[in-house]
Amino acid sequence: MDSILVRGGGELHGEIPIAGAKNACLTLMPATLLSDEPLTLTNAPRLSDIATMTTLLQSLGAEVSSMQQGQVLALSSHDIHNRRADYDIVRKMRASILVLGPLLARFGEAVVSLPGGCAIGARPVDLHLRALEALGAELELRDGYVHAKAVGGLKGGTIDFPLVSVGATENALMAATLARGTTVMNNAAREPEIVDLAQCLRRMGAQIDGEGTSTITIQGVDTLNGATHAVVTDRIELGTYMLAPAFCGGEVECIGGRIDLVGAFCEKLDAAGISVTETPRGLKVARKNGRIRAVDIETEPFPGFPTDLQAQMMALLCTADGTSVLEEKIFENRFMHAPELIRMGADIDVHGGHATVRGVEKLKGARVMATDLRASVSLILAGLAAEGETVVSRVYHLDRGYERVEQKLGACGAHIERIKG
Ligand code: UD1
Repeated sequence: MDSILVRGGGELHGEIPIAGAKNACLTLMPATLLSDEPLTLTNAPRLSDIATMTTLLQSLGAEVSSMQQGQVLALSSHDIHNRRADYDIVRKMRASILVLGPLLARFGEAVVSLPGGCAIGARPVDLHLRALEALGAELELRDGYVHAKAVGGLKGGTIDFPLVSVGATENALMAATLARGTTVMNNAAREPEIVDLAQCLRRMGAQIDGEGTSTITIQGVDTLNGATHAVVTDRIELGTYMLAPAFCGGEVECIGGRIDLVGAFCEKLDAAGISVTETPRGLKVARKNGRIRAVDIETEPFPGFPTDLQAQMMALLCTADGTSVLEEKIFENRFMHAPELIRMGADIDVHGGHATVRGVEKLKGARVMATDLRASVSLILAGLAAEGETVVSRVYHLDRGYERVEQKLGACGAHIERIKG
């Protein structure tokens, strides 16, 4: 298993291109199942999660080919011969559940294994299932699989989400495009990835209103056509690299970055003493003079502070001046990076969904282990500012969500290399 070696010290200067969003691409790809015409996605990220979704779609009979070093994906679902998503693929990635809504909407049946994914809490799929039931689906859980049927097709209905779920909103949105009549989704997720999906579906001929707000209305159509769509910028990759000069000093321009994708995050950066300026090409980030200041963070659904940037922010606050309190409100058990940061000299107490981080002068390099995708990159960032060498093992998590991390940081002067193992 590969690991990443990081040598701390030295400022970062340069520019980092931000890729298309993993989480948007993972919901745009299954949208191919809604139509028998081709869907082309540009600005796709090159990640192992995208390869997993490719394998899953191919197992159903879809054609997926990648061009321009993986940045363009050509998908076609004119010959879907299988409506069963097997455990062996689904267990690798929770987002696999996103094939359920489209399969059911177009073919009236689907069998999808219950998913696995990152070890961050229980992460059930009940909201996905309830939403599809509201559209007339009949569901049965048997042998670890969801067996779904919609005899005569899905019917529009009202979906009241009891809590905000990105994935359940996406699944229901895709399903509703082909349901008969009108669907209204209340308490829908407002993430930029939802807006991106709605825009792509609209290009395919769907009738959707209200994406980006809590109420989305969909008027079902009989069929959808092909389309070409550019995947939105990855706001989590953006936020991660915006933090790099905050850890190390220096100035980095994140190419393709947009403030509207990371508003709540930028407010916290400002409070911590990090300056962000818009440029014609993206966002430029620099550390203001002096030590990082402590800030309190609460993770929330968009437009709040994203849970997927909590680990990276905690790593930064480990060396802030003062005490920060981080509250994780989206996922239970999402502080697995804390014990690893403590191994590097951080002073952190975790109590349930709260972590108290008392800033120390400096972290020290250590051997640490990544336990999920965002935790692994937080340890790399911590290593860049720590004294000595840090080795982050189990980086297969990292490869699920960050493309060419060594090259991107290395080009700005970071001492970082991959050790093949
Ligand atoms: C997506 C993102 C993930 C991000 C998360 C929250 C993708 C591929 N992944 O995950 O990176 O961290 O949004 O921004 O887009 N829940 C239920 N029942 C359900 C579904 C969710 O109880 O059926 C709970 C979850 O356990 C969690 C909360 O709802 O506590 C939010 O999860 P959700 O928004 O669904 O996250 P994902 O779509 O899985």
